[in-house]
Amino acid sequence: MESALEQEPRKLKGLLLAGGKGTRLRPFTYTGAKQLVALANRPILFHAIDQLTTCGITELGIVVGETKEEVMAAVGDGSQFGAKITFIEQSAPLGIAHAVKIAEDFIGSDPFVLFLGDNILKEGIGRYVEQFQTGCHNGLVLLYPVDEPQNFGVAELDGDKLIRVVEKPRDPPSNMAVIGIYFFDSTVFDAIRRVKPSARGELEITDTIQRLIDDGLDVRAEVISGRWIDTGKHDDLLEANHLLLEDLEPELAGRHDDASTIQGRVVLQEGSEVINSRIQGPVIIGERTRVVNSFIGPFTSINHDCLIADTEISGSVVLEHTTIEQVDGRIEHSLIGRNVELRGHQRRPHGYELILGDFSKLRTP
Ligand code: G1P
Repeated sequence: MESALEQEPRKLKGLLLAGGKGTRLRPFTYTGAKQLVALANRPILFHAIDQLTTCGITELGIVVGETKEEVMAAVGDGSQFGAKITFIEQSAPLGIAHAVKIAEDFIGSDPFVLFLGDNILKEGIGRYVEQFQTGCHNGLVLLYPVDEPQNFGVAELDGDKLIRVVEKPRDPPSNMAVIGIYFFDSTVFDAIRRVKPSARGELEITDTIQRLIDDGLDVRAEVISGRWIDTGKHDDLLEANHLLLEDLEPELAGRHDDASTIQGRVVLQEGSEVINSRIQGPVIIGERTRVVNSFIGPFTSINHDCLIADTEISGSVVLEHTTIEQVDGRIEHSLIGRNVELRGHQRRPHGYELILGDFSKLRTP
């Protein structure tokens, strides 16, 4: 009879946020949603969805904003992830807690994990999912130690108890940033109803968590062990790409000729072609991309339908439909957008460090 006494683990829903303008990632986000920028050739949002589905969380809501058409087209009905997806439209970016508020019908009385769609984690969240499913807390907040806590929500702890959270404090009470992954039960909706817009005009999730604490509810905090990156800025994107490529599973579905060398962990996606080139992994080359007479160095992602010819590139991200030809000197630590044409002239030997948005053109005469 033991099993009858055991409590069933609570089944969680997932709520992903994929609205927002991504102003800090311009110029990429002038032409597209920030959550669809591909790292390791997969949109950032898809990495977030993967984090939930691998924990068995398959009933997902995605809050979309201005870029909704693009996000909805890329995600589809969720079958590509083995998930059932409901889109929830946010008419304006009025804050994370506002996004949760408008998802109340979707969440109902179920506990859920809230996942900001631009957060990249090195390790899975399985441990915390299990902890929240089997415990009876009202909230669980994940923390990560950072150098500049004033840019985040910051936690004040008493042992392992969360006693205070403050949004982007000038004088941070600790170096523990609240990361964009939170667990709540339905008590959160009542708290949100009592939260007032902040100075930036948003309903803040930190104020909501503080409400729960002040109401005497049980809110826990855990410091995560693996790396966490909030891909808010350009350097963060390159760092997150690096992080994801560290775990790349080699797979050569594309073609390479005998004059080419492929070393280390390399993925050649379907229909890609490597001719007379050296690829030094970890590297991923996207579908139908051609690499000719080139060197592709470690921690580089080249997305689909690109041409890289007579060029050396390493530690970089190249988005889809981009051509890079005859660039002398090595392109390093660069982020190059979609539909870019970058044509050098094999003359002055020097390096480049680039942030090139979609549709950029750079030519040497
Ligand atoms: C938001 C939250 C903040 C949290 C951060 C994590 O900040 O308000 O508390 O630390 O996400 O990514 P925002 O990205 O809206 O500035």
